[in-house]
Amino acid sequence: MIKRTIKLAEISVVKRPLPTAETPLIPAYLQQTYWWAYLHPRAVHFFERSWLINLILLGNYRRLSGIALDALGDALDGATLQVACVYGDFTEQLRRRLSACGRLEVVDVLPIQLVNLARKLPSDPRVQLTCANAENIGGEAARYERAVLFFLLHEQPEAVRRATLAEVWRLVKPGGSIVIIDYHCPDWWQPLRWPLAAVLQTLEPYALDLWRHELCHFLPAPAHILRQQTYYGGIYQLLELRR
Ligand SMILES: C[S@@+](CC[C@H](N)C(=O)[O-])C[C@H]1O[C@@H](n2cnc3c(N)ncnc32)[C@H](O)[C@@H]1O
Repeated sequence: MIKRTIKLAEISVVKRPLPTAETPLIPAYLQQTYWWAYLHPRAVHFFERSWLINLILLGNYRRLSGIALDALGDALDGATLQVACVYGDFTEQLRRRLSACGRLEVVDVLPIQLVNLARKLPSDPRVQLTCANAENIGGEAARYERAVLFFLLHEQPEAVRRATLAEVWRLVKPGGSIVIIDYHCPDWWQPLRWPLAAVLQTLEPYALDLWRHELCHFLPAPAHILRQQTYYGGIYQLLELRR
């Protein structure tokens, strides 16, 4: 397993992607399906606008990020894992919820995304950015109190989604929480149902898996569901699990 930990201070002076020899392989689905959103330097610049991300989420960015953050809690002690970077200020809002002795690790497979995230964050020794594939973050099991996945799983092919959830399951302590916000099958009456299906089919084909199955279907083990709720006519969902 190839993994590289990048300290904020270090990454903030790195103005270009790190050499590939030091970083994990870029998954095929990111290169083929999502190059326009995450890999291309101009794409990062283009998408890093709160209003645009809010538009993509049909005006729900603030609401959904607030729901995820509230599910995680306030004054977060111990270790929190954020799997994958997010455009906008999600990580900064999460950082502000850390207690004095809390820690946050953000894992992403793309150095360009970590560099972009580092640019958005103030220097904070409690925050660590790590370049690794979510399928195989590695290291000691049960080392996080909680984990959050904000709009990651719909981007992944099923095998990758299952591996990501299995890895998160392995890394969160028994009794810890896992908070997921993602797409869901809209209610029949939601007028955006079919336009959204067409957009997802074209741009985000794996997202339709989440229309066909509840998220629990992809978990490695039966989980204790703390909360499962849909929003905006069923288009979005929160799944909060006890590990
Ligand atoms: C969280 S998702 C999408 C979030 C949302 N669309 C946004 O940015 O507002 C995007 C991130 O997931 C990362 N990512 C995708 N697959 C990954 C994987 N297997 N391991 C780690 N990071 C991954 C991408 O590099 C990208 O930074």
